Amino acid sequence: MTSPFPDQGRSVGDIIAAQTEWHDEDIDWRGGKAFSLVYNADDPELHELQHQVALTYLHENALNPFVYPSLVRMEQEVVEVAAGLFGTEPNAGTMASGGTESIFLAVHTARAVARSKGIDRPEILIPTTAHPAFSKAAHYLEMDEVRVPVGADLKADPTAMAEKVSANTALIVGSTPCYPYGVIDPIPEIAALAASHDTLCHVDACLGGWLLPFWEQIGEPVPPWNFEVEGVTSISADIHKYGYCFKGASVILYSEEALRHHQYFFFDDWPGGMYGSATTAGTRPAAPIAAAWATIQFLGLDGYLAKARSVRDTTRRFKDGIIAIEGLHVTGEPQMSLFEFASDHGIEITSAVGDVMDDRGWKLDRQNGGLHLMISPGHAHIVDQFLSDLTYAVANHGDDRGVKAGYGGVV
Ligand SMILES: Cc1ncc(COP(=O)(O)O)c(C=O)c1O
Repeated sequence: MTSPFPDQGRSVGDIIAAQTEWHDEDIDWRGGKAFSLVYNADDPELHELQHQVALTYLHENALNPFVYPSLVRMEQEVVEVAAGLFGTEPNAGTMASGGTESIFLAVHTARAVARSKGIDRPEILIPTTAHPAFSKAAHYLEMDEVRVPVGADLKADPTAMAEKVSANTALIVGSTPCYPYGVIDPIPEIAALAASHDTLCHVDACLGGWLLPFWEQIGEPVPPWNFEVEGVTSISADIHKYGYCFKGASVILYSEEALRHHQYFFFDDWPGGMYGSATTAGTRPAAPIAAAWATIQFLGLDGYLAKARSVRDTTRRFKDGIIAIEGLHVTGEPQMSLFEFASDHGIEITSAVGDVMDDRGWKLDRQNGGLHLMISPGHAHIVDQFLSDLTYAVANHGDDRGVKAGYGGVV
C-alpha cells in the first residue's frame, strides 16, 4: 500500500491545481442548487469582507484571551449584540463553533445544575423534532433523553411533555423553529412547565436566532420565544446560519451570567501552569469570531431587515409554486423560511422525485416524509428554474431508485 504522505513537498501550483479539480466536483453553493449547509447571503461585498477578515485572523488563536485582546473584544461585542436581541444580560454567554457545541454547552450546564441538586442521572426532555445535537450531547454526557411526540400541528406538545417530567428532568427543550418542519414550538408553555418543576429550559434558536428578530420587524407573526418569556434559561443561535457568517460561529446565551460559569474549566495540576477555557474547544479558530463581528457590523439592522425581506419573499414564491404543482403539498404550517414538501398520493417523493432533481444538479435533503427546503437570499435567482425542474420531476419520476441522502449525509 502506498502511503499518501508525500516524500517531497509539492509546489503551490501543483497543490492548488489538484484541489481546484476536486473542488470543482463539489456543488457550487453560489449557484443556489443546495438548500442546507450553506446560507448564501447573495452579497459579494460581504463575502469579500469575510475573505479579508479570514486572512487577517487565519493564524491567530482565541484560546488565550491575554494574548489576543482584539478577539476577546469582538467575542464580547458579538455576545452583547445577541444578548440585546434576545433580552438577557450583556455578558451572559459565549461564542461557540456551531449549533452542536452551543447545545452541548447548554446540556452540560443543565447537567451541572441538576447534579448540584443531587440528581445522579439527569434527563433531558425534548420533542421528537429536536435536532440530533441534543441526543449527541446526552450521549457524550451520559444523560438520558426522553423524546416526546409532537402534536398534530407538528409543534412540541407541552401537555404530553408534562406527563414525562420526572424527578430526574434537568432540561426541557423547544425549537424556534425545528429543522424538519420549520414550525415554532410553544415556548411560553414549555418554559412554564420547566419553571413549575424548577428545571432549566433551552430554546434551540440555532436557525431562528438571527432571523426571527427581523422577521417580526418586517411584519411576520412571531410568537414569544426569547428571554422575555419567563422560565427560558438558555438559547442557542447560530451566526453561521441566518447571521450570514461563514462556518464556525454560534452563540450560547443564558438568562443570567451565573449560569455561564458552569462552562468554565480551569486546571493547574500539571507542569504547564494554569489552563482555563469557557467552551469545549482548547485552541479556538479566530477567523469565525472576527468574521461574525465584521458581518454584524457590515449588515447592521437595515442589512438584516433587507435579507429577511428577501428570504420571506423567496420562501413565499417557493411555497406557492410547489403547492401549485398537482400532487404536492407543504407539510404543516411552516412559520419561517424552511419546510418539507411531500406528495398527496403515493408519488415516491423522497427517492424518485429527489433522484430526478439530483440528475438536474439540485441537492435536496431527504426527510422521512418528504423533501426539505431551506431558503436563503441566494435562492431568489433560481425559483423559476427549480419549479420548472420539479414539475418535470413529478411528471417523469419513473421507478423508485432507492437512493437516499439525508441532511447529515447518506441515510
Ligand atoms: C434547529 C437546529 N439546531 C441545531 C443545529 C446544529 O447546528 P450545527 O450544524 O451548526 O452544529 C441545526 C443545524 O442545522 C439546526 O437546524
